[in-house]
Amino acid sequence: MFDFILPSKIRFGKGIIKELDEELNKISAKKIMLICDEGIIKANILKNVLKFVKEDKIVVVFSKIEANPKDYNIHEGADLAIEEKVDALVAVGGGSAIDAAKGIAVLARQGGNIRDYEKKVISENCLPLIAIPTTSGTGSEITFSSVITDTKENFKFTIKSPSIAARVALIDPELTYSLPPMITASTGIDALTHAIEGYTANCTEPIAEAMGLYAIEYISKYIVRAVGNGADEEAREGMMIGSLLGGLSFSHADVASVHCMAEALGSIYDKPHGMCNSIILPHVMKENLPYVLYKYSRIARAMGVDVKDDETAAYRGIELIEKISKDIALPDFKSLGIDPKDFRLLSELSEKNSSNKSNPKKMTVDDYESLFNKINNI
Ligand SMILES: [Fe+2]
Repeated sequence: MFDFILPSKIRFGKGIIKELDEELNKISAKKIMLICDEGIIKANILKNVLKFVKEDKIVVVFSKIEANPKDYNIHEGADLAIEEKVDALVAVGGGSAIDAAKGIAVLARQGGNIRDYEKKVISENCLPLIAIPTTSGTGSEITFSSVITDTKENFKFTIKSPSIAARVALIDPELTYSLPPMITASTGIDALTHAIEGYTANCTEPIAEAMGLYAIEYISKYIVRAVGNGADEEAREGMMIGSLLGGLSFSHADVASVHCMAEALGSIYDKPHGMCNSIILPHVMKENLPYVLYKYSRIARAMGVDVKDDETAAYRGIELIEKISKDIALPDFKSLGIDPKDFRLLSELSEKNSSNKSNPKKMTVDDYESLFNKINNI
């Protein structure tokens, strides 16, 4: 038994950003808050987006979003939205900006402490949000979850509800043309991780499985090209479709142990989410392989592995993912500078993550600790 809801309207294509003002009119937005980080301003992306907001609207810019968005970013943004009496939000950026905007959308209307919403039911009373992704990775523009760092507890928590999903996702591959190779690589593997975890999560369902598998096909076909040549329009579009499908897959299923470990690293060491996922992905896959062997063989075949025997194909698929990570020059675990003394704490946080239950292999704190040690000793 499953439900499939898709609260966001998806508008996709090169130049679709030009439709921003029309979409703002449809939600009767008169005063909007544009949410981004400083990098988006420096890269002139904000200026390009603002060209498509007509002068009959007032724009307030909130650019204090940090990577692995912090609870205080959400509170500060919500305070400003209330003070300025904005009636809609537009988030421009990667997962951090869009996730932060979802949190702001809730707090500005429902008040309280953002951490409370990890368990509290979120009502429909949220500021309407239009999401404009500038990376092909997070899928946050269409997911109905938001990952936020509790800075007192150094813990990443998730708020999840269809009420916080963007009303509209304007997905314009052109916005990713100037994305540097390393960000293209790490966000691209993040998207691949969403697809693999969405397809294989314990709680998955057929629609999430279908979207995850097709996302794997797209991402594995285009990621090396997109990293090698950012101006490759076909590859950029393929990556945007892949990350969209991967996001749809995991938001209707779940992520699993790769994300549990990456989010633990993100909360203690503040390391980029995509980079952490990219390093951990093949190692968790090796742990899970006996539990989802057939699905892993299908993942391999979606990536072009032409082998009849399922077990051989499954192994080849993991090897191919390791090769892709090398081809796009992603760093190894040692380069993250993680102190082995923290492995226990990181393992405890991984086990505590709400997505731990979705991993095909049941992972205990000891399992995570031995995996961190194994990855560190390679
Ligand atoms: Fe992710």
